[in-house]
Amino acid sequence: MKPRSMIIGTGHYVPSRILTNADLEKIVDTSNDWIVERTGIHERHIKADDENTSDMCIKAGERALQQSGLTAKDLDMIIIGTVTGDMRFPATAIFVQSGLGAVNAAALDISAACSGFLYGLVLADGLIASGKYRYILVIGSESLTNMTNWEDRNTCVLFGDGAGAAVVTASDGTRGIISSYLGADGTLAKLLWAPGGGTANPISHEMIDKKLHLLHMAGKEVFLHAVKAMCDAALKALSLAEMSPDDIDLLIPHQANIRIIEATGKRLGIPKEKVYVNIDRFGNTSSASVPIAIDEARRNGILKPGMTCLTVVFGGGFTWASVVIKF
Ligand code: ACO
Repeated sequence: MKPRSMIIGTGHYVPSRILTNADLEKIVDTSNDWIVERTGIHERHIKADDENTSDMCIKAGERALQQSGLTAKDLDMIIIGTVTGDMRFPATAIFVQSGLGAVNAAALDISAACSGFLYGLVLADGLIASGKYRYILVIGSESLTNMTNWEDRNTCVLFGDGAGAAVVTASDGTRGIISSYLGADGTLAKLLWAPGGGTANPISHEMIDKKLHLLHMAGKEVFLHAVKAMCDAALKALSLAEMSPDDIDLLIPHQANIRIIEATGKRLGIPKEKVYVNIDRFGNTSSASVPIAIDEARRNGILKPGMTCLTVVFGGGFTWASVVIKF
């Protein structure tokens, strides 16, 4: 299959403030040993109080644009995967559009939780194939610590903030997105959600007292579904690319839990040396996790030009996605 679009620049940004497991030991009844053993996380970055999701997007976007050799004015569209945007409306992409000075770009957000970046990338791939759009900036960014219940040790140890970005344009025929697969199962929404603040549970003192505006998760169930959905999605994208796991040079999975990452690699038969892991330093940054990992792997030389990369993600909704990309 010939690639239709390719990534010509990537960038990421994480806030400077670091929250270690030792810091968390002072907040909830937990321990460094438990967190490392059960999740693989050592530390995560937390946004400053006056830092918005759009601020992180702008920094990651500027780095991606710089690498691509384009300016913000070249962009036709900005797509942002986020469930922790600046406001209920307008879209966070609007503030990124003005912050970057992308005066020629349309701007929209995608709400697909952790799958937001890959959903956006696949949408960009289709829009570029339509011939109507030339340069699209896709960003995944979350401020999940803004939605974290800091009294709930089951969830507050997991998440971090950040942003990752990619500039996408038509493929030169030799590299780019070879195949993709998107999926969802809305019957499982309540296993991972923040149900307050919308029409279902409008803002009220009672809603806030019940902490419905914060993230709620059934960890064990999410874990089991995550491994299955990520493996199924990865195999679907590989099959569409007419490839097998042996053809993959690097697996970049969603960084949600080291045990989910290892189980996914093992089930796919992809050896550990070919699986990219940075959860130890960033925690679960939701939609930012895959683009941060892609950019980091490109910049540290682990993801080299010519390599074929399989990326796969699972998130609230549930949603899942997988993309095979030749770099
Ligand atoms: N410190 C110490 N003990 C803890 C902590 C903690 N931070 N959290 C939970 N425990 C305790 C529990 O209370 C429980 O104690 P109990 O047996 O006395 O009741 C015990 O540890 C075991 O709890 P489990 O929930 O069974 O622990 P598990 O091994 O399943 O690990 C975890 C929990 C890490 C949340 C795991 O289930 C997981 O990673 N699930 C997937 C989460 C995930 O990936 N979510 C995001 C995916 S989508 C997205 O990215 C938004």
